[in-house]
Amino acid sequence: MMKKLLFLLCVFALAEPAAGAGPETSIVPRPASITTGGGTFTVNTATVIGTGSDKELRRVAALFAESVAPALGGRMKCADRGAVALSTDDTLAAEEYRLEITSSGVAVCGGSAQGVFYGLQSLRQLLVNGGGVLPVATVCDKPFFEHRGGMLDSGRHFWTTEQVKEFIDILALHKMNRFHWHLTEDQGWRIEIRKYPELTRTGSVRRETLVGHGSNSTEYDGTPCGGYYTRREIREIVRYAAERFVTVIPEIELPGHAVAALASYPWLGCRGEGYEVRTRWGVSEEVYCPGKETTFRFLEDLFTEVLELFPSEYIHIGGDECPKTSWKSCPLCQQRIREEGLKDEYELQSYTVRRMEQWLRARGRRIIGWDEILEGGVSPTATVMSWRGSEGGIAAAKAGNRVIMTPNDHCYLDYYQTKNPVLEPQGIGGCVPMSKAYALDPYDRLSPDERPYILGVQANLWTEYIATPVHLKHMLLPRLAAIAEVAWAYDRRDFEDFRHRMEALRKCYDTAGYNYATYFFDGCDE
Ligand code: ACM
Ligand code: ZN
Repeated sequence: MMKKLLFLLCVFALAEPAAGAGPETSIVPRPASITTGGGTFTVNTATVIGTGSDKELRRVAALFAESVAPALGGRMKCADRGAVALSTDDTLAAEEYRLEITSSGVAVCGGSAQGVFYGLQSLRQLLVNGGGVLPVATVCDKPFFEHRGGMLDSGRHFWTTEQVKEFIDILALHKMNRFHWHLTEDQGWRIEIRKYPELTRTGSVRRETLVGHGSNSTEYDGTPCGGYYTRREIREIVRYAAERFVTVIPEIELPGHAVAALASYPWLGCRGEGYEVRTRWGVSEEVYCPGKETTFRFLEDLFTEVLELFPSEYIHIGGDECPKTSWKSCPLCQQRIREEGLKDEYELQSYTVRRMEQWLRARGRRIIGWDEILEGGVSPTATVMSWRGSEGGIAAAKAGNRVIMTPNDHCYLDYYQTKNPVLEPQGIGGCVPMSKAYALDPYDRLSPDERPYILGVQANLWTEYIATPVHLKHMLLPRLAAIAEVAWAYDRRDFEDFRHRMEALRKCYDTAGYNYATYFFDGCDE
């Protein structure tokens, strides 16, 4: 109650809404309230960040000093006391913060170190935008959704540890708190598993890669392409993300998108031989064989090692795009269907997912699956990630399942971003300009009773047609900012106001050295 009162006090007593604010108070995602006063406070490299003796705040302060060093021409120092004072206040929610800039200093108070971190992301935008000169203002802010995610596909193209860390930095700048890491694919296995070394020895490399578009090309580049993350690198990335208040949710695909695993251990498939790490995009009919107990033993061994590396409560098990062809002609799969009293191959998929969910639940984890896990019946404790539009997510929420909304028509950042894609690098297809990403409504067609099942939203970056870090950021930025605003500020979004505020965030991209697409800024995306 106290928290609510304080927050309301902030919103109503202090505030005019951010809409009227000038560019000097531009922050993305849009804060709940900004009140401006007269005057300024100037920060430079001699300004000290005060953290008291709190070690976590000291760490958060150091990250902030590093992030604004390019704008200030050097690093601010951290000490017990300073003109930029950080503190926590447990009457605020964990992710909530209050940022007060007066003519004599700055106070950033969060419900936890995470809240302080978000307050500092806002301060960073003001600081970069003003070249160190801050407007006197009070910002009260907290997120709307708990799951604010970004997915990176390391399966189709491998991204180095440094590139993955940069992706996480970019999520954190946008106050996103979940990194969905797509680690296994038909075209490459990316995670070291000690018990099954062929997964990386064989499965992490494809012989060559398709050139041109999958819909019409038969040309290949003749060049092997691969890479994987060692256990040490994965632990390093998980720790790096946690320091920025980002939880890494690994995705280990089953029962489809598994050709790299089948190429490594052919007994995992129905046919049992003749698999090769896939060299073109699209969906393969070769999938795990759930008719064999050895497949489940493999999956349990595999997830045992995955759980050692990833502390996340949620584990993504894929579940999408699994053709049933090989199961139809597999005696063992048909035997499983008979013995388990299953109706058809869709129920065999459900059986497979449920069996792995039970195994993971017994170890204290929850599963997320793509919306295909609804087909053939879904367990009430599974979380559904809606990607084929919002329909799957709506059905799941109505059934009482938790949902993360990532509908492809708003959230797929591998889609083209202008109405005239001849100006863009080759992409997979589709069209998600900024306005479309921003128009995502995760509550669309849901009653007030159904809305609490929506955990949040996520931007997905598949990389079939993206092979370089420059192209990756060209697709990610600035559209991630639109999804971030829906995630953080769903109840206060306003596209024209956002367009205006994006100029300040653009300066942060420039200062951090992140390239980005300029179509939206140039007004030529629609
Ligand atoms: C997906 O895009 N196949 C989840
Ligand atoms: Zn089979």
